[in-house]
Amino acid sequence: MCGIVAYNGSIAAQEPILHGLERLEYRGYDSAGVAIQKDGKLQVERAKGRLHALVERLSDGPMEGTVGIGHTRWATHGEPNVANAHPQVSNDGNFALVHNGIIENFQTLKNALISEGYSFQSDTDTEVAVNLIQKYYDGNLKEAVARATGDIRGTYAFAALSAHEPDTLVVARMDSPLILGVSEDGVFAASDVAALLDYTKKVIYLEDGDLVTIGAQGYTIENQGEVVEREVVDVPWDATQATKEGYDHFMIKEIHEQPKALRDSLIRKVSGGTVDLSDSSYTREEILAFDRIYMSACGTAFHAAEVGKRALEDALGREVQAEVASELRYYMPFITEKSLVIVISQSGETGDTLAVVKEAQKRGAQVLAVTNVVGSSIDRASDKVIHCDAGPEISVASTKAYSTQLLSLFLLALDFGEKVGRYSPEEVRARVKELSEIPDTIEKMLEKTIPEVDAIAEKISKKDSIFYLGRGLDYLSAKEGALKLKEISYIHANALPSGELKHGTIALIEEGLPVVTIITQSELVEKSISNVKEVKARGAHTIVLTNDEAPEVDSVADDKILIPKTSDLYAPLISVLPQQLLAYKTSVLLGNDVDKPRNLAKSVTVE
Ligand code: F6R
Repeated sequence: MCGIVAYNGSIAAQEPILHGLERLEYRGYDSAGVAIQKDGKLQVERAKGRLHALVERLSDGPMEGTVGIGHTRWATHGEPNVANAHPQVSNDGNFALVHNGIIENFQTLKNALISEGYSFQSDTDTEVAVNLIQKYYDGNLKEAVARATGDIRGTYAFAALSAHEPDTLVVARMDSPLILGVSEDGVFAASDVAALLDYTKKVIYLEDGDLVTIGAQGYTIENQGEVVEREVVDVPWDATQATKEGYDHFMIKEIHEQPKALRDSLIRKVSGGTVDLSDSSYTREEILAFDRIYMSACGTAFHAAEVGKRALEDALGREVQAEVASELRYYMPFITEKSLVIVISQSGETGDTLAVVKEAQKRGAQVLAVTNVVGSSIDRASDKVIHCDAGPEISVASTKAYSTQLLSLFLLALDFGEKVGRYSPEEVRARVKELSEIPDTIEKMLEKTIPEVDAIAEKISKKDSIFYLGRGLDYLSAKEGALKLKEISYIHANALPSGELKHGTIALIEEGLPVVTIITQSELVEKSISNVKEVKARGAHTIVLTNDEAPEVDSVADDKILIPKTSDLYAPLISVLPQQLLAYKTSVLLGNDVDKPRNLAKSVTVE
């Protein structure tokens, strides 16, 4: 959601804080701010808009000082403006705080503070927290933060400074990601490893309830009043993975990284030509004992879950449910201690998905997570985890995470299918071989498809509405294509099962309206073609994405993108790529900020 970077060490704090914020800008970008402590004074600067607005303000003279906090925001309480930007400062000007998360009882706390004479300049819940710290300060910043958090109900990652304690930085975590980074030059705190990769790869994933005092000499972590040790781990990502490496945008870089991401993912999950998920999977007995299997996620990850559901149903010969996390978290009457809940999340921090993990565990269910971020909240909370191995995904629009989620779920399905005896070992090997060939196939397809897609993007970028159609797995792939297009091009896009069209939506088809139809499912080709005919007859601009070379397709498609053939089940892994490219190119043509689309943020930790 928002991004936090804090630093206490031997070098000037401004540079690493701004650099870290730049890396985190994808998490939130409607305002940014920094506070640095120097000679017992807090220097604070904030700006509305992208980080460069803050950088410009600081360009006249950098802030001196080696202890500081920074923030890039995605508004939850109050509109994006300077007053609501972080750091928030206490009434007496002696405390500054950056915060990710939401304080649920902020209004009650605010009213109480107002009755005690405090005044408020912003609409934020964070300003309430920083004034609580002022109120409780009695010569010890850590104690004041601890007492403030004691009053707060909700989620937070806090980083606090006080003018009274020039060498101290205090950070705290509750249900909002926060890590420490340990380097020779000092100690960092950040909401995301991407902020730290240029400075250190040694990190500590803080736990809920951790309260950390970072001094010039090191750090002390406490939890519920006790000093605790936390393991320092090496992050497997490197700094270049979090840069554009010559591409215009992270999104196009990440689209092109898909073959590599899939290969990396295969290397870690396949051994001797067959699936090897080791401890990340369940035994035959455990699989057979599950009374129900649910899959849950949000957005793009949910689209992966829906495809994964089909793969698991094929593997197990039984029904699997897929439900969006924002719904499942509040309605899971049938999940019991005998159930398995599979959650999918790129970031591992999505609030709704994390809530499903916790609620399902409360009911005694087993939770298996498929996530890209090692050490994320969902990674740590789940009983078993499959890592996607996509590397850092920076663009808000998810691409390589989606394909590695699909791959992970396909491999999980093969593993389950073999264990319960529905797939023979030979069949699994053959399918693993097919999956292992997909990275090369995609690589070749990307080169061929880009000019074709670019020409189509030119046409659709002039429209304000577009439909996506498909049957079966093609419909699930179309849903992802439509989401991709709408989130970065802002063109209204609606995906629907081709057969549903005639039940109402066909009324909207008119001359020149673009309709993208995905046709890869061998049993459904003819039926899908007749749906294309229906919309063509009503004047639609028909764009067909298919792996079928039937001449019939040519006669109905105004534009056609031919993609390589795979088995039906794995087709979404291929058909999604041209759709990602189409969304990307359209967004570029429209002059949009591709990597940071309006109103969106990369990791949605709030409800
Ligand atoms: C769309 C997109 C979002 C995310 C969703 C879940 O391109 O990225 O729809 O898929 O917010 O995020 P994660 O996977 O981090 O749980």
